[in-house]
Amino acid sequence: MLMTELIAKKRDGGVLSEEEIRFMIDGYTRGEIPDYQMSAMLMAMYFRGLDHDETVAMTMAMMHSGDTIDLSAVTGVKADKHSTGGVGDKTSLVLCPMLAACGVKMAKMSGRGLGHTGGTIDKLESFPGFSCDMTTERFFENVNTVGFAIAAQTAEIDPADKKLYALRDVTGTVAVRGLIVSSIMSKKLAAGADTIVLDVKCGSGSFMKTEEEARLLAQEMVEVGNAAGRKTAAVITDMDKPLGNAVGNALEVREAISALKGEYAGDLLELCISIGSNILLQGGIAGSEAEARTMLRHTIEDGSALRKLAEFVDAQGGDSAAVYDPSLLPTAPVQYDVCSDVSGYVNRMNAEGIGLVSLHLGGGRATKESVIDPAVGVVLDKKAGDRVACGERLAVIHAASEEKAAEAAKLLRACYVITDEAPADVPFIKGVVR
Ligand code: URA
Repeated sequence: MLMTELIAKKRDGGVLSEEEIRFMIDGYTRGEIPDYQMSAMLMAMYFRGLDHDETVAMTMAMMHSGDTIDLSAVTGVKADKHSTGGVGDKTSLVLCPMLAACGVKMAKMSGRGLGHTGGTIDKLESFPGFSCDMTTERFFENVNTVGFAIAAQTAEIDPADKKLYALRDVTGTVAVRGLIVSSIMSKKLAAGADTIVLDVKCGSGSFMKTEEEARLLAQEMVEVGNAAGRKTAAVITDMDKPLGNAVGNALEVREAISALKGEYAGDLLELCISIGSNILLQGGIAGSEAEARTMLRHTIEDGSALRKLAEFVDAQGGDSAAVYDPSLLPTAPVQYDVCSDVSGYVNRMNAEGIGLVSLHLGGGRATKESVIDPAVGVVLDKKAGDRVACGERLAVIHAASEEKAAEAAKLLRACYVITDEAPADVPFIKGVVR
């Protein structure tokens, strides 16, 4: 088989067979197929798309390009969740403790963020001493005793995706549905969970700008997961505004803690209950959606989810005192109020722009080498749909200096569109695909 022939076949609208896809992925992972040929193939895929069989074949070939995790040493329902990424997304910090308190086991592999704010691991590293480095034995022991553990994705899991994603990033070929599905699902399948719930975001702060695109992506991921024998569902959620009110690492950890203490009742909690109830239903832990929702809410009311977070932080070397006293988390020296100079309604907000404000403050990575400042970011008082009076506060910027705060304030103001009319009410959860 020759890669040149496969490129020409795809370029001319042909459909690649499972064997051809396996040849291509194995050869590329081993370094036998060069980046320039794979770039040409990715561009052909960009224009021609991938059909369902090709997407399944890509997913399976990528999943088997490295190690797969065997979770047989973990007892009970083994679940995983994945978000396609959005601004202020701290769902795992709230959802994992709630599910652990319901008896679900989660052996999660997470990433560090590039761009916007940090990834889940960056957020968790706001806890003094917290680490995701541990032996495999320790990882499984923590999953069995605490209910969940979070480790950094290793180079041995899905090496094909690591190479391909980096290449797609620099060749303008990220936005291909079949490639996004295979990239996400190959990692999820390799991580071994039997129950998977995906959070597919749509809107200005996410990859999928329209609901239609998000729905097609969700449907295909669910089909691929189910075809691989895993119970898979997807929740489609709005990302036209950030999730919750905090954007920035320690600020997001604080918000997650308030959600677990029952002090918060916004979209973040709604999302955790929605994803969580799908996991409890699929795992057979709850018999109905209403029962699942009650179980999850109960973990907040009785404090068991908060205690699970503290146990998890302790088990990974962190100082769990910060769970009960968040003032022990990193705090920025400057807090700067951003106020509205008009009255009206927040009609729209640029969620991605708000993520970039946090990046600008030092809360995310501009390059792989950037060092994150865990303390900085933005806490929003007003989000799309809210009424605001002239002079009223829109948000507080948490910055390392007055100068940084003033620059960020200009950028943040530009993210708000305030008009006389209230915007149409858009549902936050746009649908569930099972
Ligand atoms: N996230 C991934 O892991 N892969 C993609 O292709 C897109 C988002």
